[in-house]
Amino acid sequence: MAHQALPFAITLDILKRRLPAHLQEPKIGIVCGSGLSTLASALRDVVEVPYSELEGFGTSTVQGHKSSLAFGLLGPGNGIPVVAMLGRFHPYEGHKLSTVVYPIRVLARLGVRNLIITNAAGSLNPKLPVGTIVAIQDHVAIPNMAGPLNPLLGPSLGPEYPRFLPLSNAHSIKLRRLAFLAAHKLGLADDALAEGVYAWVSGPTYETPAEGRFLRAAGADVVGMSTIPEVLAAREEGLEVIVLSLVTNFVVIPDKYRSIKEEVKAELAGKPIEQPPQQVVSHQEVLNVGKQKADVMKDLVAKIIEMIPTD
Ligand code: HPA
Repeated sequence: MAHQALPFAITLDILKRRLPAHLQEPKIGIVCGSGLSTLASALRDVVEVPYSELEGFGTSTVQGHKSSLAFGLLGPGNGIPVVAMLGRFHPYEGHKLSTVVYPIRVLARLGVRNLIITNAAGSLNPKLPVGTIVAIQDHVAIPNMAGPLNPLLGPSLGPEYPRFLPLSNAHSIKLRRLAFLAAHKLGLADDALAEGVYAWVSGPTYETPAEGRFLRAAGADVVGMSTIPEVLAAREEGLEVIVLSLVTNFVVIPDKYRSIKEEVKAELAGKPIEQPPQQVVSHQEVLNVGKQKADVMKDLVAKIIEMIPTD
């Protein structure tokens, strides 16, 4: 789809009519990942606009994801106007990449300058156990490297957009500093917030052990099926971006494969080898950890927002 066909004017007009004046120009945006939509409960004066009312937005189909934009105030005093995406669009749902990143471009047009993106992710690094929040310092976008899944492919949005966007500075150092200062102010344990590299895979399948090993060898600490298209569009729109991944599970990477050949031989020799059941990741497990840790993520995001300079 040519970018020129995107219905920004219509979407913005709908929002303008739905929002009171003090919520119309949020400077900070939040994307809430699986099980993390309770972030909205930190907002005051909330106005929720369902995606179904917004021209250009798709319908989020993933269990555990809501489907609306929540506008509200956060922080002390009069509060800071923010907008939270409750639920996001993934390419694996069948959405076009232009749909996946459309809300990010809308947020940019509303005036958002800083974007906090959260997600659930699988850990590839034994030092990052379930429940850890990882401030992402870099990423490997396998679908961008291996196929036409870069949301910036296609005609440029306009002459003011760079054709060849650099990504060596994609993940804001300024916002990551605030995240660690916020964790300190909240008194979080040292290992509650870590740093690491995110690998984006298209999903919807979880990784095979060989894929997990491959991603680990590629330098990734966590892996997930979202976020990077949003980061790319946000950077193209000139936003500062921080990604916070909540580790919801370990990627299953056994040290060695079971040898079925050896097991059958042992069985035939009358000495069967006992084996533990095979491990698999479940979406329910991912959602449960999201729910358990949603409050920590909420407090962290709220504190970061309080600390972002408002000028
Ligand atoms: N792999 C990919 N995406 C994920 C995972 C995982 O293990 N956990 C949560 N999102």
